[in-house]
Amino acid sequence: MPPTDNVMDKLVSLAKRRGFVFQSSEIYGGLGSVWDYGPLGVELKKNIKERWWRAMVHDREDIEGLDAAILMHPKVWEASGHVAGFTDPLVDCKHCKNRFRADDPRIKGTPGEPTVQCPVCGSKGTLTAPRMFNLMFRTFMGPVEEAAAVVYLRPETAQGIYVNYLNVLQSSRQKIPFGIAQIGKAFRNEITPGNFIFRTREFEQMEMQFFVKPGTDLEWFEFWRHERMKWLAGLGVRPEKLRFHQHTKDELAHYAKDAHDVQYEFPFGWQEFEGIHNRTNFDLSRHQEFSGKKLEYLDVATNERFIPYVVETSAGADRTTLVVMVDAYHEEEVEGEKRVVLRLHPAIAPLKAAVFPLVNKDGMPELARRIFDDLRKHYNTFYDDGGSIGRRYRRQDEAGTPFGITIDGQSTQDGSVTVRDRDTLKQIRVAADRLAEYLAERLRS
Ligand code: GAP
Repeated sequence: MPPTDNVMDKLVSLAKRRGFVFQSSEIYGGLGSVWDYGPLGVELKKNIKERWWRAMVHDREDIEGLDAAILMHPKVWEASGHVAGFTDPLVDCKHCKNRFRADDPRIKGTPGEPTVQCPVCGSKGTLTAPRMFNLMFRTFMGPVEEAAAVVYLRPETAQGIYVNYLNVLQSSRQKIPFGIAQIGKAFRNEITPGNFIFRTREFEQMEMQFFVKPGTDLEWFEFWRHERMKWLAGLGVRPEKLRFHQHTKDELAHYAKDAHDVQYEFPFGWQEFEGIHNRTNFDLSRHQEFSGKKLEYLDVATNERFIPYVVETSAGADRTTLVVMVDAYHEEEVEGEKRVVLRLHPAIAPLKAAVFPLVNKDGMPELARRIFDDLRKHYNTFYDDGGSIGRRYRRQDEAGTPFGITIDGQSTQDGSVTVRDRDTLKQIRVAADRLAEYLAERLRS
């Protein structure tokens, strides 16, 4: 059963215990809303990114891949509107120096009864009027720290695609409609970060910009909405926990004509983890204007020139990782004992199998090692000979490993092993020399 209470606390604790996610710089007390991925977490996130890349780039003839640098010419962010518009209204407490979003409910109070007290130090009348605060991280390029040398850490990967649009178009010989996909880090100096890896200051995006002829953008928007939902369902996420939310006029970003969030019902409510955006020709037009470089497309068949419209699919790799972890987290009673299990889709599970010699004698470890060495050529596999077999199973349940392979007394006699299914807990005997084939079949289904 999916638990209903304190799921986030339990997940954060499991993530640390099993090596999925650690707090950044933990031995120094941590760094606010920055997280590190441990041995299992890095595999899980990598599997999600690889699955996305396969679906968006390798499986399609009309999308090309790109890996643009994080640092870009500062004019990019003027053209994109981020210097002027990527801001949150903030208020400061002059006494304790804490900073809050102006729409923080602790400050807003109730209508007719505004709270003007600092929610942290309790001082009265010390809050400033709201001021706009830019979310981009700034740094300096070169040896001199002066205004002329300011560069930004990109707040979205999309701009790296727009400024390379012509390069990719010309080198790949694509024709419109076509897309460019990229996975990479983005940075935002979020003021109210939180909820584990949901909102962080450094995160990874999986973005695809699809360039289309103006007038066909609505059709392509629909197409990509459906494609993305299909892909997400293929990750094994429960469909009743997914929904679309169309942005109201107030919610739309400065570049968007229409935007649909894909939301998941997290323990802290329905929240966005991916967006499909109709960005019109806003970005390319602005880059044409600011760079002075023509970014028009010539349709040879009709002899028409136009600046393409863009339909964007923008997913957070970290948020998608959180979605699959939350969705997979289950607690259940097995023979009077509590079992915690991550029912991850086998295709994205960090480890596909774990190999256990039942006891460390009578030829079992030698056979188990041979089986392990054979399996790890095909799959990320784990070897564990520590503690009771029950405890070893429990550890792999928490890691989300779909198959547990035990080498017992019978194995050394007839060459068969038991395969335990993480979800059904059923165990069957399989000949060791057929194991790789058997797992391949099960992992395909
Ligand atoms: N290029 C469009 C764009 O960046 P966005 O809605 O601001 O749109 C897209 O971000 C996705 O990036 C979000 O749905 C989310 O998954 C992820 N994301 C944005 N800010 C994030 C943050 N502070 N921490 C983690 N993920 C974030």
